[in-house]
Amino acid sequence: MEERNPRTVVITGASSGIGRSLALEYSAPGVVIGLVGRDGRRLDQVATACRARGADAVTGVVDVSDRAGLDAWLREFDRRHPVDLVVANAGVLVRMPGGEVEPADDAYRLMQINVLGVLNTAQPMIARMKERGRGQLALIASVAAFTPLPHSPSYSASKAAVLNYGLSLRAVLAHHGVGVSVVCCGFVETPMIADIKDPKPFNMTAEKAALRIRRGLEQDRAVIMFPLFFALMSRLDGLLPDRVRRFFYAHSQRGKASAINR
Ligand SMILES: NC(=O)c1ccc[n+]([C@@H]2O[C@H](COP(=O)([O-])OP(=O)(O)OC[C@H]3O[C@@H](n4cnc5c(N)ncnc54)[C@H](OP(=O)(O)O)[C@@H]3O)[C@@H](O)[C@H]2O)c1
Repeated sequence: MEERNPRTVVITGASSGIGRSLALEYSAPGVVIGLVGRDGRRLDQVATACRARGADAVTGVVDVSDRAGLDAWLREFDRRHPVDLVVANAGVLVRMPGGEVEPADDAYRLMQINVLGVLNTAQPMIARMKERGRGQLALIASVAAFTPLPHSPSYSASKAAVLNYGLSLRAVLAHHGVGVSVVCCGFVETPMIADIKDPKPFNMTAEKAALRIRRGLEQDRAVIMFPLFFALMSRLDGLLPDRVRRFFYAHSQRGKASAINR
């Protein structure tokens, strides 16, 4: 059913952080990697690093919120290199720790990238993988899917949407030989969270996160969550009565507003 050892992998948000580390993790002789992002210069640097590991790397300078553009790129890539695994990883964070409401434009933009960008990545591949009766989709969510982060309404909502979208899709696509996994990770040291001054419990490197994701995908896990203790605490936190949860949050609110991480 699922591709446990994918030879053709597409990763969105491959120019930085987790996406970059995943690209390097999968790079090996005989593997073709499709790298999608907006920053062509940084994508080229990742492509060079992938080639140094023996992979064939193809870059695509595409905004994942551009449905038509991404569809066209994915179709063309898949025509040349039938895709075994697509990782919908591109995402942004909006965080307002000063108690401000996030700017509306930032919230709308985040939804376009974090939610519609995931659909734009998954949908073109679903039809093709169904036809072939094999393939694997990995959707990168967050432990924020389990519990609402106090400073990040749109981010929390976007990740909860990705989690439920992925699990629902998994049930349907299982009948067609296509695997779907949702990744719910805690803090991973990438540019996305570099500005966060608050404690980042159990944070890990992007390299380690990429390895955990790969292992989870090899096992076709429905939800790949790590670090396990932090993920379980987040799940529990999401079950707490709102008033109790906010009591704990009240003590963690400090600092000034930070805007969207583009
Ligand atoms: N870091 C964490 O602690 C953490 C925890 C849980 C979940 N996550 C999730 O992991 C994923 C990767 O985040 P990261 O931590 O690796 O962050 P990052 O280092 O900031 O990387 C984000 C990537 O997304 C790409 N991207 C952003 N907007 C895009 C757009 N509109 N179109 C195409 N690509 C776009 C960026 O590339 P360009 O700038 O080149 O477009 C970049 O490659 C995100 O979905 C994030 O929510 C991260």
